[in-house]
Amino acid sequence: MRRFQRRSGLKGMLVKFSIGGALFIVISTLSLLYSYTSTNPLSKEIHLEELWSNADSGGWLPSSAPQTYWPPPPTLTNGYLRVRCNGGLNQQRTAISNAVLAARVMNATLVLPDLDANSFWHDDSGFHGIYDVQHFIHTLKYDVNIVESIPLNQKNAKNKKIKAFQLRPPRDAPITWYTTEALNKMKEHGAIYLTPFSHRLAEEIDNPEYQRLRCRVNYHALRFKPHIMKLSQSIVDKLRAQGPFMSIHLRFEMDMLAFAGCFDIFSPEEQKILKKYREQNFAPKRLVYDERRAIGKCPLTPEEVGLILHALGFDNSTKIYLAAGELFGGDRFMKPFRSMFPRLENHSSVKHSEDLVQNTRGLAGSAVDYMVCLLSDIFMPTYDGPSNFANNLLGHRLYYGFRTTIRPDRKALAPIFIDREKGRVTGFEDTIRKVMLKTNFGEPHKRVSPESFYTNSWPECFCQTAAKKPADKCPPNDTLNGLNDELVKTTTNETNSTTS
Ligand SMILES: *[C@@H]1O[C@H](CO)[C@@H](O)[C@H](O)[C@H]1NC(C)=O
Ligand SMILES: *[C@@H]1O[C@H](CO)[C@@H](O)[C@H](O)[C@H]1NC(C)=O
Ligand SMILES: *[C@@H]1O[C@H](CO)[C@@H](O)[C@H](O)[C@H]1NC(C)=O
Ligand SMILES: *[C@@H]1O[C@H](CO)[C@@H](O)[C@H](O)[C@H]1NC(C)=O
Ligand SMILES: *[C@@H]1O[C@H](CO)[C@@H](O)[C@H](O)[C@H]1NC(C)=O
Ligand SMILES: *[C@@H]1O[C@H](CO)[C@@H](O)[C@H](O)[C@H]1NC(C)=O
Repeated sequence: MRRFQRRSGLKGMLVKFSIGGALFIVISTLSLLYSYTSTNPLSKEIHLEELWSNADSGGWLPSSAPQTYWPPPPTLTNGYLRVRCNGGLNQQRTAISNAVLAARVMNATLVLPDLDANSFWHDDSGFHGIYDVQHFIHTLKYDVNIVESIPLNQKNAKNKKIKAFQLRPPRDAPITWYTTEALNKMKEHGAIYLTPFSHRLAEEIDNPEYQRLRCRVNYHALRFKPHIMKLSQSIVDKLRAQGPFMSIHLRFEMDMLAFAGCFDIFSPEEQKILKKYREQNFAPKRLVYDERRAIGKCPLTPEEVGLILHALGFDNSTKIYLAAGELFGGDRFMKPFRSMFPRLENHSSVKHSEDLVQNTRGLAGSAVDYMVCLLSDIFMPTYDGPSNFANNLLGHRLYYGFRTTIRPDRKALAPIFIDREKGRVTGFEDTIRKVMLKTNFGEPHKRVSPESFYTNSWPECFCQTAAKKPADKCPPNDTLNGLNDELVKTTTNETNSTTS
C-alpha cells in the first residue's frame, strides 16, 4: 500500500528547474529518489489516497545522461541546420527535440529553431519569448553546437549570410534521410532550412542514446522563461495552500470537436458551426458521425469527466484546475460538471491581475497551463492526440517521478455512458471503476504503438540503481565530469590549432 503523503517536492522541483546546466540531470535524478514510495501494483482496488501520491516507480529513476561513449559535438561543422516549427506549444516542443537530434547526427550546428507565429493564438514571441535561450544552449553543450542565427560568411568579401537551402523532410523521416539527402544538401549549400518541421523525424529509433538526447532536450534544456515559471509557481502555491489539487486538460474546444467529428451531442446550430469549421480547417474525410464516440474518438464531455471522477471516489471538496481554451457549447456542458465539482479554477480565476493578462496570451498562456498541470498532484487528460498538450504532459509527468495521471479509456467507457443515457443506470459506477482499474495511473509501463515516445520515454530515459539487467543500470554519478573533460580537451585542441 502506498502511504498517503502530501507532496513536498514542489518547491524543490522549481528550484531544480532553475539550476543551470547539465548538472541538473544528476541533481534531479538524486532528489527524486526521496519522493518514491512503494506499493503493490496488483492491488485490485482504487484508493484515493494512493492516487493523491505518486505512482509506484518500481525502482526506476529518470535519467537521460549518456550511458555509453558520447563524444562532444564536432569542432568542424558540416553546416547550419535551420528548422521552422509549426503548430502549438507542444507540437513545437517535440519538433525542437527532433531538431537537436537531427543536428547531432548530421554533425551540424543548430540555429535556434523558428517557432511559427501561431495562427490560432496570434502569437509571434518566438523562441526568445517562451524559452530561456542561454539555458537551452548551455544544457546541450555536450550534444550540439547551437547559434542564435547563421553567422556571416567570412570567406565572402561582402560578408553575406549563407543562404539556407530549403527542404521539406518526409513525415517521420528515418535518421538515414538526415545523414544522406539532407547532409548532402547541407554540404553543398552550407546551410539547410527544413520547413515545415513537425513530425519530421521517426519517433521510434533503435538507439537509446539518441532517445536520451531527446529527453535531455525535452525535460532539461527546454525551460520556460523566468516570468512564466514564476507565474506558474504562484498559481500552484495558491492552489496548494488548501491541500493537494488535480488538473484537468478539458479539451472540449471547437477545433478539437470539429477535427474529431463529434457532432451528435450538439444542437443543429452548433453542428453547423462545427461542420463549417471542419470544412475550412481540415482535409475532407468520410466520418460516420454517430459512431465517433462509440469508437473512442471523441473528447470526454465535462459531465463524463465528472462521472468518472465521482465513480473513482472523488467528492465535491476536490480542488480542480482546468487547463482549457474556450469550451464549446457554453455553460450547458459545464453545469453538470460544476454541480459535482464546484471547486473549479483556471489561470484567470486563481490570479486576477494585469500582469497575468500580459503573461497568459498565446504560447505563454499554454506554457503556464503546462507548468501548473505538470506540478499538480493528479493530472487527467480528456483527449490525447499525437504530440499535443496532454501527451507531452503524460510523458513529462512520468519523467518527473511517475506523478499520478488518470487516463480514461474512452473507447471502453463510451458504451457505458451511452447505456446510461438510455436509462440503464444500475451498476453504472461499478462498471466505470472496472474499466478504470485496467488503466495506467502513471507507473512505468511498456510503450505500445501508437503511444508516442514523447508520451512514454520508458525505459530509455530511466535507470535503476539496483538493476537486474546491466542495460538498466544507472550511469555513474561522474558521467558529466567525463563529458566535461572531453569537451575541454577538444576545445583546447581547437584553440591550440587555430593559434598555431
Ligand atoms: C560525425 O562525427 C563523428 C565523429 O565525431 C563521426 O564518427 C561521424 O561519422 C560524423 N557523422 C557525419 C554524418 O558527419
Ligand atoms: C458537498 O456535498 C455535501 C453533501 O454530500 C453537501 O452537504 C455540501 O454542501 C457540498 N459542498 C459543496 C461545496 O457543494
Ligand atoms: C475561468 O474561470 C472563470 C470563473 O469561473 C470564468 O469566468 C472564465 O470563463 C474561465 N476562463 C476560461 C478560459 O475558461
Ligand atoms: C550517486 O551518489 C549518491 C550520493 O552522493 C549515491 O547515493 C548513489 O548511490 C550514487 N549513484 C551511483 C550510481 O553511483
Ligand atoms: C587533442 O590533441 C592531442 C594532441 O594533438 C591528441 O592526442 C588528442 O587525441 C586530441 N584529442 C581530441 C579529443 O581530439
Ligand atoms: C594547448 O595549449 C595549452 C596552453 O598553451 C597547453 O597547456 C595544452 O597542453 C595544449 N594542448 C595540446 C593538446 O596541445
